[in-house]
Amino acid sequence: MSDIPVSERAARIEYAIRDVVVPATALEAEGHEIIKLNIGDPIAYPGLPTPEHMIHGFQESLSRGETGYSPSYGLAELRAAIADDEFAKGWNCTPDDVYVCHGVTEALQIIFTATLEEGTKVLAPGPHYPPYMAYPQLFGAETIEYRLDADDGWRVDFDDVEAKMDENVRLLVLINPNNPTGNVADSNEIDRLISIAEKWPNCMIIADEIYDELDFTGSQTSVASRSQTVPVFTLNGVSKVYYAPGWRIGYMALHDPTSRLGAVRDGIERLLRSRLCASTPAQMGYLAGLTQSRSWMGDYTQKVLAKRDLCLKRISEIDGLDVQAPGGAFYMFVRLTDSKWANDDKKFVLDLLHDEHVLLVHGSGFSKEMGNGHFRLVYLAELDVLNEAFDRIERFLQRSR
Ligand SMILES: Cc1ncc(COP(=O)(O)O)c(C=O)c1O
Repeated sequence: MSDIPVSERAARIEYAIRDVVVPATALEAEGHEIIKLNIGDPIAYPGLPTPEHMIHGFQESLSRGETGYSPSYGLAELRAAIADDEFAKGWNCTPDDVYVCHGVTEALQIIFTATLEEGTKVLAPGPHYPPYMAYPQLFGAETIEYRLDADDGWRVDFDDVEAKMDENVRLLVLINPNNPTGNVADSNEIDRLISIAEKWPNCMIIADEIYDELDFTGSQTSVASRSQTVPVFTLNGVSKVYYAPGWRIGYMALHDPTSRLGAVRDGIERLLRSRLCASTPAQMGYLAGLTQSRSWMGDYTQKVLAKRDLCLKRISEIDGLDVQAPGGAFYMFVRLTDSKWANDDKKFVLDLLHDEHVLLVHGSGFSKEMGNGHFRLVYLAELDVLNEAFDRIERFLQRSR
């Protein structure tokens, strides 16, 4: 009997970050040890554990027997703590504006479901985190990429944004700091983006600020805090700067400065109710993170910065690699300058994996057009592991010439 058909929708989905794990797992099954620098999960690397007080918050909730469903929009205490946090970032966020989800990823699915129709568009940075491309097509919408400048710190190319805006663009996306490039947009750049979006009355902004506390420039700014005209969905959560991605807790916070999101908000609330709720004890763990001291964050950021600096130094010494220094997050988007690889980053990644057992992600997995000729490196491994990875990459590049 032949296979039962899969939906075309599902068959089209790609997620480069985990797709490259398939050949790596096959090599591991043969007994090889792989240096994995592919996944943006801080817990996958030693030395950056989830803070103890957050784990206690989660455990205490379990001990109290809080294992039932919670309210669909999130626990009241957590919504209030998130609203306080967003308020401190400069906008008038109230608990009612906050909706707790199973991570930013679920928030995205809900936003796309509530705002996109056949023929609508999402304008997202190129390169970008893959779900911004994968999900909109499920709703008959299309993701168009605006250019980040590969020669100028991956800054937003505003002319390109302007040229690609039209009445069908429902969502303009800013990931700040960006995954995979690490670029940080400052308040001037955010103001420019808002002034472009405000010319299009049905356009809303998604501000994915999940890496906001990992900002080495000091200039990262909340988009909602700058917008007096355009509605903003602020996205954040526990996965990155609170070092607990497996808890699957994140949120969207709706900033509606001209009160035009009533219908969209109603749609979002219906969707949230229909999927019941986010994990109850995990919300309590996040609450501990938001309400107790964050002095630990500075140490974590210093550790991440030392790793970044080591990678920048190694890259500057290796023929065949070039990089724009990232201003935030924990990624580097490295350019392959040898002509052999400049147009075949996927082959580079797969050949490097097979020959030297280092796992990276091909840049074209983050944008076929604007990521080609690059690879993404997660620089959270220990310094000696990063050094070993660069030794291997250098050896591979030399051998392949
Ligand atoms: C820009 C960006 N947004 C969202 C996510 C996922 O967030 P969550 O774990 O809250 O679903 C990631 C994970 O890598 C990311 O890089």
